[in-house]
Amino acid sequence: MIHLFQPFTQRGLSLRNRLIISPMCQYSSQEGFSTDWHVVHLGSRAVGGAGLVLLEAAAVSPEGRITPDDLGIWQDEHVPGLRRITDFIRTQGGASGIQLAHAGRKASHASTWKGSHTLTPAEGGWTTLGPSARPFSDEYPMPQALDKAGIQQVIEDFRQATRRAVAAGFEVIELHAAHGYLLHEFMSPLSNERTDEYGGAFENRVRLLLEVVAATRAELPAAQPLWVRISATDWTEGGWTGDDSVRLAVLLKEAGVDLLDCSTGGNVPQADIPVGPGYQVRFAEQVRRETGLATGAVGLITDARQAEQIVATGQADVVLLGRESLRDPYFPLHAAHELGVDVPWPVQYERAKPRR
Ligand code: FNR
Repeated sequence: MIHLFQPFTQRGLSLRNRLIISPMCQYSSQEGFSTDWHVVHLGSRAVGGAGLVLLEAAAVSPEGRITPDDLGIWQDEHVPGLRRITDFIRTQGGASGIQLAHAGRKASHASTWKGSHTLTPAEGGWTTLGPSARPFSDEYPMPQALDKAGIQQVIEDFRQATRRAVAAGFEVIELHAAHGYLLHEFMSPLSNERTDEYGGAFENRVRLLLEVVAATRAELPAAQPLWVRISATDWTEGGWTGDDSVRLAVLLKEAGVDLLDCSTGGNVPQADIPVGPGYQVRFAEQVRRETGLATGAVGLITDARQAEQIVATGQADVVLLGRESLRDPYFPLHAAHELGVDVPWPVQYERAKPRR
């Protein structure tokens, strides 16, 4: 039996297979609105056979954008454009999800192909927010430490974004608590220097994430899964660890989270990361084994047999494909052929389907 192409069912949702398009910023939005690029890019990956197409980090507030070109979900007017995307993905037999995000102290930057530099006010830059007045690095602006009212606003922004995501037809919500963005900044002792109930002890550092999870779960119909992406380690002495991730996973499971998407890094600029094939998979494996929470594995998974092995050996329930899905939008169709699984091709492409 090929495990990768077994359906994956959570709550009321059944994915056709275990291959997920990892959220990837396209920096192709204006004022947060999705564009034709999103329809074609995301639509192609649904045509390519993915079980779930997860949309890129969508900002829950304008100041929560990494760049002015980020996708947004902070106003109801964003919904119809997103609806067009989810509708198309569904016609292709895929499911859609969206990653809700706040960039925190890593906001107010130019997008990658515009230089990734901090934006000056003249360039449209804005004051960034974080747990503490401590920048990501010398090249980053000093963030403003969120006060209690600011924290409540962030929670409310995630709640409203969830409501809009449901209205837009997304079936999965993923909260972005990884890569050194706001929720991760609160979780890690390397970025959180607060002395109130949101800083210090582990329970305090994960409080904001748990409050966002509660607000999101309350807004999300019971039939829809809630996923969380974390950086399972900061790869830095004194930072967030794999064991912290296990401890958090227990709390998230109790709070109604259905899957932990295990990425790593991004909260400190000088981390020593042993990058190589499947280098983050062991975190997904540890969380799954020690907590029973479903997990997603991501990071340099580029091969059908590698992906199959991860799922077949119980290291993770699903595999998220990032760059390989940019190289090959039809990766799932190609993987099925390579693994000897007969999956339907889009009828328009049927004459091109390889015969066994
Ligand atoms: C990313 N990544 C990313 N991660 C995330 O959680 N939210 C995001 O919006 C983005 N944006 C993004 C844009 C682009 C162009 C790339 C290449 C990557 C990280 C991505 O989801 C994935 O975790 C990593 O790329 C590692 O997986 P691969 O690429 O080795 O399969």
